[in-house]
Amino acid sequence: MKFVVTAGPTREYLDPVRFLSNPSTGKMGFAVARAAAMRGHEVALVAGPVTLKTPKGVRRIDVTSAREMLAAVERELSRQAPGAVFVSTAAVADWRPAKCAARKLKKGQMSDTLKLVRNPDILKTVARRAKHQAPARASTVFVGFAAETNDVIAEARRKCREKNLDMIVANDVTEKGSGFGVDTNRVTFVRKDGSVERLPLMTKLAVARRIVRECEDLRP
Ligand code: PMT
Repeated sequence: MKFVVTAGPTREYLDPVRFLSNPSTGKMGFAVARAAAMRGHEVALVAGPVTLKTPKGVRRIDVTSAREMLAAVERELSRQAPGAVFVSTAAVADWRPAKCAARKLKKGQMSDTLKLVRNPDILKTVARRAKHQAPARASTVFVGFAAETNDVIAEARRKCREKNLDMIVANDVTEKGSGFGVDTNRVTFVRKDGSVERLPLMTKLAVARRIVRECEDLRP
């Protein structure tokens, strides 16, 4: 099978030295890419700015901003044969500064408020588009993540429905050993059919292996 995986944060620059971002390190996404390659799948990994080594057997595309990530994902999915899998682990910045200055802003040039504009929702965009394509291409499997601090399952269910996904991996980022930066994760699978499966605290690679198996089963 062909896997396209996003990982890490995006950066949204307001000048050449300042940006908006988040604490994602890419560990979860790189683990999914590694687990898929270990199962013999072909993997394209679209990575935001992270310092991790590319897993063996994985083709990596580096990007910086959400808009660059969207363009890379669209390109990769259009290159895949029908029936690919898209796993969206990236922590994509939902907003970007309305303007990015070409040169470093001096303190006197900056105001106390920053005007922001919405970034595209990568997962929602590609999942919606696939639904309207020929049946073969509409068979792409879409798996998202939901990083939550409260109402974890309810929020994951809402995102699964609104983004038209086959499954969402709910991630309570306030739990010890879970979420950003650590090597472990405790997640819950929330499937399109409404079923919920809570996994124990595991290494991110073990979680990734479960996700890859689930994708294999989800493929029509
Ligand atoms: O990278 P690590 O340090 O290992 O941390 C892992 C993680 C915490 C980043 C990861 O496990 C995780 O939870 N990733 C999803 C983070 C997130 O942005 O969640 P969200 O609930 O805001 O987004 C829901 C889904 O839509 C996600 O699949 C996200 O990739 C996608 N999305 C969100 C916004 C956007 N503009 N475009 C998107 O594609």
